[in-house]
Amino acid sequence: MKKFAMLLAVVMVAVFSAGVTVAAKEPGTVTIKEVQKIKPPVTFEHKAHADRIKNCAECHHKDAAGKEQKCFNCHKAVKTGAAVPMKDAMHTRCKGCHQKLMEAKKPAGPTKCDGCHKK
Ligand code: HEC
Ligand code: HEC
Ligand code: HEC
Ligand code: HEC
Repeated sequence: MKKFAMLLAVVMVAVFSAGVTVAAKEPGTVTIKEVQKIKPPVTFEHKAHADRIKNCAECHHKDAAGKEQKCFNCHKAVKTGAAVPMKDAMHTRCKGCHQKLMEAKKPAGPTKCDGCHKK
């Protein structure tokens, strides 16, 4: 009985530490809801975008592969150090690409406010 309790404790420790050392999992669908002063949150298909774009650093421009973090870690509600506000980072990267694709008459994501900020 004592031996079993020991074994269980060892297993629990192993499971727990595995859980905390694993990097953040690449998300499927993401709802970006970091700053809501005026506009509702934006839901987008992260996996579909990542599969299409392939190069994760296209968006995660400051992160090494496998260490991708939230944009909001640096891009806050207002300009913080060199990092532009969250709104500008998102509009430049997200809307910018959609706009370019649309101008090239290729399949693109939304460029109108309500297309992204859905009520
Ligand atoms: C391609 C998608 C996309 C489009 C199109 C878009 N936005 Fe955004 N916008 C975002 C994302 C993503 C954020 C970050 C949201 C967050 O952090 O919660 C954001 C943030 C904002 C913010 C800051 C958050 C707040 O509530 O204060 C404002 C204001 C904003 N957008 C206004 C607009 C307006 C106005 C338009 C149309 C002219 C527009 N957006 C079009 C994706 C988009
Ligand atoms: C179109 C831009 C874009 C591409 C391409 C992209 N991501 Fe992301 N990723 C985001 C955004 C935006 C978020 C969430 C931001 C937020 O919620 O503040 C995010 C979130 C994440 C998170 C969650 C971080 C956390 O701590 O919650 C991980 C992990 C991640 N991405 C990994 C990847 C990997 C791996 C790839 C490439 C296979 C990739 N991403 C490609 C835009 C992108
Ligand atoms: C570790 C901090 C950090 C993270 C995380 C980060 N950024 Fe940035 N970003 C910056 C800094 C600092 C700048 C200012 C210019 C530079 O140093 O490249 C910047 C600039 C940008 C610009 C250029 C804006 C302009 O108007 O010139 C875009 C677009 C951008 N980031 C998008 C993103 C997106 C999208 C994510 C998340 C997928 C993200 N960033 C995550 C720090 C970060
Ligand atoms: C490199 C180009 C590119 C970038 C960067 C990009 N997108 Fe897109 N996005 C697309 C394309 C292409 C589609 C349309 C795919 C289709 O309909 O076949 C799309 C579709 C969408 C759609 C509608 C379908 C869906 O996925 O829900 C939303 C919403 C969207 N994007 C939001 C975003 C947000 C938010 C970001 C930034 C975090 C972003 N996009 C960055 C190219 C891009």
